Amino acid sequence: MVLIKKGAEAWLFREKWYEFDVIRKWRIPKKYRVKELDKAIRVFRTKHEARLLSETRKKGVPTPIVFMVNLMESSIIMEDVKGKVLKEVLDTLPLQEKKRICMLIGENIGKMHKAGIVHGDLTTSNIILTNNNQIVFVDFGLASFSKNLEDHAVDLHLMERTLESTHHKMAKKYFNWIIEGYRKIMKDYTNKVLQQIKEIRLRGRYVEERREK
Ligand SMILES: Nc1ncnc2c1ncn2[C@@H]1O[C@H](COP(=O)(O)OP(=O)(O)O)[C@@H](O)[C@H]1O
Ligand SMILES: [Mg+2]
Repeated sequence: MVLIKKGAEAWLFREKWYEFDVIRKWRIPKKYRVKELDKAIRVFRTKHEARLLSETRKKGVPTPIVFMVNLMESSIIMEDVKGKVLKEVLDTLPLQEKKRICMLIGENIGKMHKAGIVHGDLTTSNIILTNNNQIVFVDFGLASFSKNLEDHAVDLHLMERTLESTHHKMAKKYFNWIIEGYRKIMKDYTNKVLQQIKEIRLRGRYVEERREK
């Protein structure tokens, strides 16, 4: 059993579960919360994340297989996806491969949105590039069910902002390819989302200007 990440809300372990290589995402108790409430929150969020991981997979978007949910300890035992976090490798790929991956991401975000699922934390840290060059979405802790235009735009806008901050030079190209993939699935709806993203950007800028005053 190896600890791979200590997040604010959950710790992740790489371990064996029977003969399978798995990841265990364990939601940690929070001392500052009343004990009963803390347990209820952790159980609720664990169920919620497991449900969204499975629902998304059912809609044809690659996510880790959920093997087991342990509500007593509020943990999810899931398939260990072999590969690398996209954040670490995207910039190192050949141009054509960058394009293929970004379009694939866009297509899959389109599939999620079409199915009424919003990821809620679309960053390149939450996408794994597998050893056979596929992509898998992880971290559905903030995911939700929604068919709302604003929610779809916020989802993509977060992706755009992550690209700007972590892959600055190529950010625009990456995002345009993602949109190209998204358009394959969402067709003309894509224009509405882009318009809404524009509005969100303006709102953001307005808030920043106010802060500077
Ligand atoms: N099923 C999985 N297979 C392989 N790696 C995973 C898996 N789930 C998570 N990870 C790795 O652990 C990291 C943290 O997991 P994540 O669910 O994003 O937790 P957090 O909510 O703390 O961000 C991910 O960025 C990824 O590198
Ligand atoms: Mg994460």
